[in-house]
Amino acid sequence: MNAGNKITIKSVSLDDGRLPSVIHGAIGNPSPEKVLEVIGSYKNSDHSIIGAFISDILVGILGFSKTIDIITVRHISVLKVFQRQGVGTLLFDEMKKHYQYDKILAETDIDSLSFYLKLGFSFHKFEGKHGNERYRCELNS
Ligand SMILES: CC(C)(COP(=O)(O)OP(=O)(O)OC[C@H]1O[C@@H](n2cnc3c(N)ncnc32)[C@H](O)[C@@H]1OP(=O)(O)O)[C@@H](O)C(=O)NCCC(=O)NCCS
Repeated sequence: MNAGNKITIKSVSLDDGRLPSVIHGAIGNPSPEKVLEVIGSYKNSDHSIIGAFISDILVGILGFSKTIDIITVRHISVLKVFQRQGVGTLLFDEMKKHYQYDKILAETDIDSLSFYLKLGFSFHKFEGKHGNERYRCELNS
């Protein structure tokens, strides 16, 4: 199934009540307090969250920060029942269309590495804070 033809991508307001339950999929140990703290960190003027909507359901989000030439992906999450239907790819495509960049950076674990590889990112492995395997992913324009 492909959800692409019924999805709208638009900016998500930080006080959108639907945001916590979607972004929490991209946060480690997401207590309600931590989720709100993460959302609050997007108040920075160089940070943005775009969302994928199917009618009024927020099904996925992509949160990132941006300097003149580098976009850093901070959080990407798609509701489980909407995964593997192209939503994450659409969010990325839309970000690339509307924001200029020389390079996109992201950090992930093994579970989402295939997603970044499919989007054309290269990667290198490093050891995370807790001795876990992490991956720094990079895509040039
Ligand atoms: C990573 C994530 C955002 C991908 O979103 P998505 O909408 O499911 O991704 P897409 O449908 O656009 O997938 C595009 C391609 O990526 C790859 N891919 C995506 N999820 C995958 C998975 N779980 N296993 C293997 N490959 C995967 C596939 O090649 C897929 O293409 P295909 O379905 O034609 O084979 C989603 O799985 C998610 O929300 N995961 C939980 C949160 C998370 O781990 N976030 C990233 C770390 S912050």
